[in-house]
Amino acid sequence: MTSLVLIDGRPMAPEAAKVSVFDRGFLYGDSVFETIRTYGGRPFALPRHLARLAKSAASVFIDLPVSVEQLGREVQSAIVGAGNPESYVRLTLTRGVGETLGLDPGLSRHALRVVIVTPLKSPAPEMYRDGVSVVSYRTERVTDNSPAAGAKVGNYLTAVLANREVRKAGAAEALIVDGRSRVVEGATSNVFVVEHDGTLVTPPEEDGILLGITRETVLSVAADLGIPVRFESLPLEHVKRAAEVFISSSIRELLPVVSIDREVVGSGAPGVVTMRLLSAFRDQCRRSVLA
Ligand SMILES: Cc1ncc(COP(=O)(O)O)c(C=O)c1O
Repeated sequence: MTSLVLIDGRPMAPEAAKVSVFDRGFLYGDSVFETIRTYGGRPFALPRHLARLAKSAASVFIDLPVSVEQLGREVQSAIVGAGNPESYVRLTLTRGVGETLGLDPGLSRHALRVVIVTPLKSPAPEMYRDGVSVVSYRTERVTDNSPAAGAKVGNYLTAVLANREVRKAGAAEALIVDGRSRVVEGATSNVFVVEHDGTLVTPPEEDGILLGITRETVLSVAADLGIPVRFESLPLEHVKRAAEVFISSSIRELLPVVSIDREVVGSGAPGVVTMRLLSAFRDQCRRSVLA
């Protein structure tokens, strides 16, 4: 099992992979990124991840240093070079090194791209079997109500701080609750509830969420299964009273949530609809990498 890094397209061992201290990603979190995983050794939904990266970059005015196609080839070659059965891929694009220190984005002319491939570590099987606990975390995020809302920008400090509370509580994720007491998403996941009538509900894009690739796939799988879907803001108290709750992300797929702030959700066990969706989701991922 190996890790491999590509900086500006050049492959190197992780120990040799170094970026300048003047890089704006380091100085200001002035970057965008994607997290991708493989199924059967092939990246899942690579074109959608690349499109989202390009959209995130455009929203903060970082010019892509190479074409999206070239980025895709680099990701593919890094995965093959690492040679793991399943890989975790982190693709980062920073605004690069500025001519001098200073916030002016015009000081940098060339974005830096980094691909990191490591062996995939999936959540433990018990987390799917028994479900996970989460905590709520009230906050405004750096990008909320800004032109970068919904972009996957490098500044994840809020999620880092939320994760401190997650760790303290022995939980698996933080539900981000905005100033209007609405659960918008997880620190690094999207949130879904299953209502008592079986409808799947998830917050709309306007709530300032990251449009998760997993979320999108869950929605298409739900349509295939004939599960009704609504896009609605989710007050925290409503989420706590839902029949089922789950979070979604590329690495964690769909994780059933069985308690929020130590209050039991639904039956206290992973819900039937959640597990149907998880199974159909995994089938869809495996099918799509073969297509
Ligand atoms: C804030 C946030 N929301 C949602 C997601 C889920 O996105 P995806 O399903 O594309 O991994 C992530 C993933 O890291 C995230 O950081």
